[in-house]
Amino acid sequence: MKKIALLASGTGSNAKKIIEYFKGSEIISVACLLSNKSSAKALEMATSFNIPTHIISKEELGNPGQTILYLKSMSVDLIVLAGYLKKIPQDLVEVYPNKIINIHPALLPKFGGKGMYGMHVHKAVVEQGESESGMTIHYVNAKYDDGAIIFQAKCPVQPSDTAVQVAANVLRLEHKHYAPVVEQILIDK
Ligand code: GAR
Repeated sequence: MKKIALLASGTGSNAKKIIEYFKGSEIISVACLLSNKSSAKALEMATSFNIPTHIISKEELGNPGQTILYLKSMSVDLIVLAGYLKKIPQDLVEVYPNKIINIHPALLPKFGGKGMYGMHVHKAVVEQGESESGMTIHYVNAKYDDGAIIFQAKCPVQPSDTAVQVAANVLRLEHKHYAPVVEQILIDK
């Protein structure tokens, strides 16, 4: 059985889709969900599926020894960021080379980097008059939104679209594609 760790900071709707997708799978399972925010809805959601959770303390954000011990104890093969908004420390990247992936709600390399998350991204897309947006799944390194791109999907942006509408269209793409892409990565590993 290949094992996934999910990392989420907020609602966790992508994390939920992934949990539902692999429920009942005989080859891939979601081993745990980690969050840097003790109030994240994603934690409650994971618990409701009987998935163990771990809160990444402020101290662990800079010094991930405890996080690494936890992930090792869960025999994790792939770390999947799903709305996780903190930087991944270099030490963690080194322990899991090419085994950490992220989803970003725009067509990287556009609209990425520090401060570019959630609605900030969609507002910038609308303000700059983009004719399309979308989502990117990429490997994680110690810089924000910088690792090799694995998969992208696009949606049109109409001149009349608000940032809220763009966000909904992009989230729909994320929900459709993230779990199957995770599955393919694990099958290929
Ligand atoms: C998703 O749209 C994800 O792409 C984005 O946060 C949202 C989380 O939604 N991530 C980033 O902006 C990372 N830079 P969710 O908690 O409902 O899955």
